[in-house]
Amino acid sequence: MNSVILESASPGVAIVKISRPQALNALNTETLLELKEVLTKIAYDTSVRAVVLTGDGEKAFIAGADIAEMKDMTMAEGVRFSQLGHEATKLLELMPKPTIAAVNGFALGGGTELAIACDFIIASDKAVFGQPEVGLGIIPGFGGTLRLAKFVGYPRAKELIFSGRRVKAEEALRIGLANEIVPAANLMNRALEVAQDIASQSATAVAAAKRLLTEFSESVGLNFKLDSEAQSFGQLLGTADQREGMTAFIEKRKPAFVGKQGD
Ligand code: HXC
Repeated sequence: MNSVILESASPGVAIVKISRPQALNALNTETLLELKEVLTKIAYDTSVRAVVLTGDGEKAFIAGADIAEMKDMTMAEGVRFSQLGHEATKLLELMPKPTIAAVNGFALGGGTELAIACDFIIASDKAVFGQPEVGLGIIPGFGGTLRLAKFVGYPRAKELIFSGRRVKAEEALRIGLANEIVPAANLMNRALEVAQDIASQSATAVAAAKRLLTEFSESVGLNFKLDSEAQSFGQLLGTADQREGMTAFIEKRKPAFVGKQGD
């Protein structure tokens, strides 16, 4: 991996660090692909019970999507790039374990969008959020038009996205973007403390709570339908009828089901 670092902080907490210091951790295609790979791995790793997402260095969490890469994109490339961001942000939003953004500096454009795909944000007193895309002739494309309002409400989300203005830590706390602010030097300690506290609870109960709390978001309706399918599928495995049905197929005979509706 070139620009995503996976670290483990015991017990049960993973740290995912975006690391492209030469571009203030800006997200290019390679970084997003690496992020997807790391998040997918974490999602299926039952030893990980909480995740902290942060940026390498003190200056930036993520200074947005990579403007140099976006500059000459065609429409089709832009659509694909946005979808790639959606794939990464959906992993953060939907994985069955809490994701916490530890925001340590500039979180602009795609940086804010990754932070708000996490379950909540802990910010350093140096954090600066914003959706400056309209100033680049684009819009937030990694889910910001859907998710920002979940944190700050529609009128404020509109004001921030239409104006592109920056939001410092104090304001972020006041408007509900950040759950808490801590001195920059304490940011990771505090984020890990919160993550470890969550990791010591029942992982199955926390996963159920996350699923329900996230389910109320309109933005993930489709994902939750698919998730419900997977849940129902999983619940059928190990039943008498599933074993009989698959055994009968292998033995080339008709199944003799015993299960009743509602079992
Ligand atoms: C590419 C970036 C970058 C970015 C910073 N850099 N942000 N490169 N994409 N988003 C690079 C700079 O070009 C520079 O490279 C180096 O990082 C340091 O940045 P400076 O600008 O010199 O630092 P500073 O003056 O301290 O300003 C920090 C900053 C500024 C305020 C964060 O860099 C900035 O405004 N960045 C862009 C923020 C932004 O607009 N983000 C939204 C992008 S659109 P060199 O080589 O010169 O040292 C977006 C859309 C998402 O995110 C959805 C897509 C579908």
